[in-house]
Amino acid sequence: MVSISTLFILISIGLVYSVPVRGESCEAKVYSSPGVCESRLFISKPCDSATLNLGATDFKTCTDVRLSWDYPTNNLTMIIETPFTQQRQPYAVNLDGYWVFGGTTYRVLDGKEIELKSDDKVLPQKSDSNYQVVFKLQFPPSLTLYVLFFNYNVTKV
Ligand SMILES: *[C@@H]1O[C@H](CO)[C@@H](O)[C@H](O)[C@H]1NC(C)=O
Ligand SMILES: *[C@@H]1O[C@H](CO)[C@@H](O)[C@H](O)[C@H]1NC(C)=O
Repeated sequence: MVSISTLFILISIGLVYSVPVRGESCEAKVYSSPGVCESRLFISKPCDSATLNLGATDFKTCTDVRLSWDYPTNNLTMIIETPFTQQRQPYAVNLDGYWVFGGTTYRVLDGKEIELKSDDKVLPQKSDSNYQVVFKLQFPPSLTLYVLFFNYNVTKV
């Protein structure tokens, strides 16, 4: 049973997160260190459209990734790179079906956003011509989910 005061704290966090600077995009970050493929991502200031480039982090060396995102709101573009990116070899990203709830997921391919329905989300997503897999996650501006788990593994195709 969640106490009323806990609820208020959660609601006020939701409100703080729900006032993004309009039209501003910003960088999402992830705590990362070599050889560690599990972490939390965070967005340092409220914004309606953030981007996380995993190619700029140690996660580009990982083939089994576990990320969490507390209080997901608004749009997050996630650019996935893997060890195959460096080798310029095609691969597929397999999302863990478990995280798939709340929000809308798009695959971004050739500049187009393709909405993934729940069944599509667990299909292997093949790398694009840049040897990346780009997803866009869309959540409402106000708090609807306390934590999102974004887990995937990478397989050669
Ligand atoms: C978030 O992404 C969706 C889908 O592309 C778009 O319709 C919406 O305008 C975006 N929201 C913001 C605040 O950028
Ligand atoms: C990769 O992820 C898929 C989807 O979650 C899962 O079915 C599969 O067992 C995983 N493979 C490995 C090697 O972890």
